[in-house]
Amino acid sequence: MSYLNTTHDVYKKAAENPDVGLCCTTTPIWQLPGLDIPDIMLRMNYGCGSTVHPRDLVNNPKILYVGVGGGMELLQFSYFSRQKSGVVGVDVVDEMLDASRRNFVKAEEKNDWFKSDFVDLKKGDALHLPVEDESIDVAAQNCLFNIFKEDDLKKALEEMYRVLKPHGRLVMSDPVCDMHIPDNLREDDKLRALCLSGSMPLKDYIKMITDVGFGTVEIRAKRPYRILSPNHYDTDENIYIESVEVCAIKDPMPADGPCVFTGKTAIYFGDEEYFDDKKGHILLQSQPAAVCDKTGGALTGLDRKDIFISDSTYFYDGGGCC
Ligand SMILES: C[S@@+](CC[C@H](N)C(=O)[O-])C[C@H]1O[C@@H](n2cnc3c(N)ncnc32)[C@H](O)[C@@H]1O
Repeated sequence: MSYLNTTHDVYKKAAENPDVGLCCTTTPIWQLPGLDIPDIMLRMNYGCGSTVHPRDLVNNPKILYVGVGGGMELLQFSYFSRQKSGVVGVDVVDEMLDASRRNFVKAEEKNDWFKSDFVDLKKGDALHLPVEDESIDVAAQNCLFNIFKEDDLKKALEEMYRVLKPHGRLVMSDPVCDMHIPDNLREDDKLRALCLSGSMPLKDYIKMITDVGFGTVEIRAKRPYRILSPNHYDTDENIYIESVEVCAIKDPMPADGPCVFTGKTAIYFGDEEYFDDKKGHILLQSQPAAVCDKTGGALTGLDRKDIFISDSTYFYDGGGCC
């Protein structure tokens, strides 16, 4: 049986018997005025961060959500879109689609602004999305892509890229791990399906995203996720896993490579009113300016004593140099 079949079985069971311990992190659940999330959706929150960011949702975007789980984030996206078929939900597991459909009826009873038909549920695979080219403004997935092995992850990212309109946004949350995960854990299909052993280092995850063509990437949050410890897993040392929230924007690829924002800031504190790098970046004296890693690296390379470049905060929420 392939790991994809195991994954299917894990989420069939998780649809039939909600498992509060599956995935989940310290990310707070969005509470919004007039939004009442049914308990069953909270119990079926199988994500590891949030993909719902109000700033992505201006101008009435068409939203795609892949890997629906109990439907909580689709309800949260619907809160902003509030129209028939405003959110398309795709999942490969029939039982998960059925569970989320039932949960939307419960949500309708608790939220007078919500109608089940705000969400258009479709059976489909992240590796072959049943969605037209360039038809989506905001595509999201939460804690699914980390399960995929590298070739499948590439395919899943290419599919998201294909369905997004130019400048569309891919919002994702996934575990990442900068430590070595031994092969015996990586090849354990059940652990992989449970989002515990498939994760890759953040820099590799970003490279996979930019390699399919996304010209801008934002790391919006990074949080502790899990420890795989020797007393619970077949490992000699503790393995620390984090979860990230990432937004990849289908901007054209700059000639000098992608703009990846990891939360670096540049501050010019010299004697002039501003510093101009003559490459489109002006730093006003004593004003912090968010910079992508590429610009941060170039400014560091100037070796000036009057420009400070911060470390990455992995908390980037807008603004910046590119
Ligand atoms: C870890 S759960 C995350 C659920 C949801 N995103 C959340 O945050 O609660 C993974 C979801 O992806 C679905 N899934 C698994 N394999 C898939 C595939 N190949 N294509 C689409 N969905 C898939 C599962 O049925 C499940 O709903």
